[in-house]
Amino acid sequence: MDTKLHETPPAVVILGGSGFVGGHLVTALLDRGCRVAIVSRTPQGQHPIQAGVQWLPFKPDHFSELFKGYCALVNLIGILNEPTHNGRTFEQVHVDLVMQALDAARQAGIGRYLHMSALGADEHKGTSYYQRSKGRAENRVHAYGREHGIQVTSFRPSVIFGPGDSFLNRFAQLARLMPGFFPLACPDARFAPVCVTDVARVMADALNDPATYDQHIDLCGPADYSLREIVDYTARTAGHPRTVIGLPDWAARLQARLLEYAPGKPFTRDNYQSLQVANVCPPGTPRQPTRLEDIAPTYLGKRA
Ligand SMILES: NC(=O)c1ccc[n+]([C@@H]2O[C@H](COP(=O)([O-])OP(=O)(O)OC[C@H]3O[C@@H](n4cnc5c(N)ncnc54)[C@H](OP(=O)(O)O)[C@@H]3O)[C@@H](O)[C@H]2O)c1
Repeated sequence: MDTKLHETPPAVVILGGSGFVGGHLVTALLDRGCRVAIVSRTPQGQHPIQAGVQWLPFKPDHFSELFKGYCALVNLIGILNEPTHNGRTFEQVHVDLVMQALDAARQAGIGRYLHMSALGADEHKGTSYYQRSKGRAENRVHAYGREHGIQVTSFRPSVIFGPGDSFLNRFAQLARLMPGFFPLACPDARFAPVCVTDVARVMADALNDPATYDQHIDLCGPADYSLREIVDYTARTAGHPRTVIGLPDWAARLQARLLEYAPGKPFTRDNYQSLQVANVCPPGTPRQPTRLEDIAPTYLGKRA
């Protein structure tokens, strides 16, 4: 299939482009002269007007018509929790919807697909529904791409930070509410936080780079941290220093059971399961350059 990526400007359609990563990726693509369309469940009138960006309605049964005229599809749709606690919604959103979109892309003549996965995604060895569904999607989109001549690249970031993130910002908000100490589940869980601008740059650069075809790209920042270190740093940087108290495992499990019924499901049993394996890149993986300490103070408030 012809990827038509040498057209000027290349036209890219993004699923899930209205979110945190999407905002930064759109900027990176516009900087490279791309024309961008974002498919969203929110009606067009409720999105900001941005030169070079078009909003398309989220109509899965009409994806093939919607995708006509674009040369690349990007999928950023992802959820961290589900209403059912049995993996079904993860499967629908991370696997079924993605395969429907990729099939529609093929029908529309799209030859390039960038797929957002996650570090730790593994169809068989993932410890949570989230990781297994992400891993299954990754395997299936690459197999589909090889079978149908669509050039697929998947991206596997550790936790992503940057202006507008829901990771550091959430811990900063929680720290503000805590009375002096911060009870933390899974304090020894490990991450390699990667900056959203690095993620967006790698994805945008990959669009036209044949060396990334059929590749699975792990994305980690320059350093690994424990969750305890991240929360301690975030609370201090946000101006709400707190003593972090690591919860024993039984209390972490109990917290997950209770909080998955709280509004917004701030922590679930599935999240707890994801935290049971280190979310860091294997030795030898190239690291992305931006340090947490260089960016977080710009949006969390007071410098540490
Ligand atoms: N943020 C991180 O730390 C991190 C780490 C590793 C991997 N990732 C992956 O990176 C991707 C983007 O993450 P993000 O932080 O930008 O997420 P986000 O801010 O929540 O944005 C995701 C977008 O997906 C769309 N979406 C959500 N649920 C959907 C559903 N059921 N059906 C259709 N569309 C849905 C939403 O768009 P509309 O509401 O406009 O339809 C939303 O704006 C996800 O796949 C995530 O798993 C993120």
